[in-house]
Amino acid sequence: MRSPRSVRDADVAGKSVLVRADLNVPLEDGQVADDTRITESLPTLELLLERGAASVAVCSHLGRPKGPDPALSIAPVAERLRELLSDERVEVLENTRFDPGETTNDPETARRLADGRDLFVNDAFGSSHRAHASTVGVAELLPAYAGLLLERELEMLGRLLGDVERPFVLVAGGAKVEDKLGVLVHLGGRADAVLVGGKMAEELRDGNPLPYEALLPVDVVAAAAFEPDAETRVTPFDELPEGWLGLDIGPEARERFAAEIRVARTVFWNGPMGVFEWERFAQGTKAVAEAVAAADGYTVIGGGDSVRALQELGLADRVSWVSTGGGASLELLEGKALPGVAVIPES
Ligand code: 3PG
Repeated sequence: MRSPRSVRDADVAGKSVLVRADLNVPLEDGQVADDTRITESLPTLELLLERGAASVAVCSHLGRPKGPDPALSIAPVAERLRELLSDERVEVLENTRFDPGETTNDPETARRLADGRDLFVNDAFGSSHRAHASTVGVAELLPAYAGLLLERELEMLGRLLGDVERPFVLVAGGAKVEDKLGVLVHLGGRADAVLVGGKMAEELRDGNPLPYEALLPVDVVAAAAFEPDAETRVTPFDELPEGWLGLDIGPEARERFAAEIRVARTVFWNGPMGVFEWERFAQGTKAVAEAVAAADGYTVIGGGDSVRALQELGLADRVSWVSTGGGASLELLEGKALPGVAVIPES
């Protein structure tokens, strides 16, 4: 895989630097609900400050506004960043998506971002699959470098695309089936076992579009309705009663999946096994998270929901790498070039 040139090799002393970070964090009641992406962006900012940058302007999108929207102002994010890193040389620019030219990669928007700045550092791994003004346009106008988080994500996720230790087990779940099909084909074709739970499993049962057989749950926790306190029963996966919904993998599937994962030497997991936000349907996801944490090998987790489940269980520090990228990690593992990386000159 190509390696973009590193911010470590940039001469930043006395320079005005623009940093694109991915500070697209969840908000609750106008406050930052999870600051992982903010803390992960600190090492690059600290490096720039230590090396004497004159000013550091940090930009990011937040949510998917179609124009200015006060509910999606970057202010709470900027405030949290200031709490973690207080240096008067750091300024956080307003949500890049308030300018409609951001997502269309409008040259004028890119010029405005580049204006008055000497160099550009892209540390927004989670946004690097987007060819936007703040990820690609501006990198064509200023000398561009990769930030520390971006580099590390490429290295850690990239390892899955090289020679991996076997058994290599891929675990996929969640609902966004179309988004994950590419990874299942590309990475799954190289895995020794592919375990599929969640809504994905239903899609595969109804017609397998994959060039191999994935392991589907033998049983499921079926619910009479999509409600946290619905009537439930455990049934074989292919005997789900008419009108009932499989909201979690069943006890036997949990055992089988966990047994495959525990002995793996390499694991990539993306997507929960059921509706884990509801305690009664969280057992499958919990079993997978615990097995991944127990596996004595190279273990990587990507995608917001599986990362959240792992964090809620306090297991995040028991895996090799927790990616900050959702769509970006999937596109990378599909073997696609990421536009925000491709635009940075090689080292
Ligand atoms: C993410 O949360 O995956 C990234 O921040 C990208 O957000 P987007 O899908 O709205 O571009």
